[in-house]
Amino acid sequence: MHILLAYASLSGNTREVARQIAGHCEAAGHEVVQLHTDIQTLDGVLGDPARAARFDLHLLGSWTDNAGRTPSEMKRYIEALVAAAGREIDVAVFGTGETQWGMEYYCGAVKRIARFFGSRHPALEIEQMPHGERDAARIAQWTAGVLASHHDPLTHKNDPHADHHRHLA
Ligand SMILES: Cc1cc2nc3c(=O)[nH]c(=O)nc-3n(C[C@H](O)[C@H](O)[C@H](O)COP(=O)(O)O)c2cc1C
Repeated sequence: MHILLAYASLSGNTREVARQIAGHCEAAGHEVVQLHTDIQTLDGVLGDPARAARFDLHLLGSWTDNAGRTPSEMKRYIEALVAAAGREIDVAVFGTGETQWGMEYYCGAVKRIARFFGSRHPALEIEQMPHGERDAARIAQWTAGVLASHHDPLTHKNDPHADHHRHLA
C-alpha cells in the first residue's frame, strides 16, 4: 500500500523512530513517502496537496512540546492534511517524549493527535532516542501491527473508518 509518513523532530529522536518505521514498511513491500514537517510541506512534497487523500495509511510522528503540547510544525502539517484529505483517513500515531516533564504530559502530542483523528491504532510512545533491542522490537512490533490491522477485514468490523476508501473514491 501507499503510506505517507510525516514527522516533526527537533533534535532527531522522532526522526530516528520514523526512519526505523519506514524501513519496516518498505521491507514489508509497501511504498513510503516521508515528510519532515519542520522543513517540508505537503504541497512541496506531493506537488498537489489533494494527492494526500490517495494514500492508504498516514503515519504521524511527533515530539512533545511544553506541557504536553503538539509542536507548531506538526500542527501546521495536520491543518494542511485535513484541508486536503479530511479527518476520515486511516492514521496511526507515534512519537517521543520524556517522562521527566511529568507523566500527565508524557508524549502528550502523540495522545492529542491520535484523539484528534480518532485513530484506531494503538499509539507508539518512545522515551527520547530509541535505543537497545527493546525499543527496536517495540518499533518493529508496532509497525507490523499497524500494517496487519490495515489489511485485516476483521479489525475493520464495526469501524466507522472502515469504508474510508469508498468515501475518498
Ligand atoms: C521546550 C521543551 C518542552 C518539552 N515538553 C515535553 C512534554 O511536555 N512532554 C514530553 O513528553 N516531552 C517533552 N519534551 C521532550 C521532548 O519531547 C523529547 O526530548 C523528544 O524526544 C524530542 O524529540 P526530537 O528529538 O524528535 O525533537 C520537551 C522538550 C522541550 C525542548
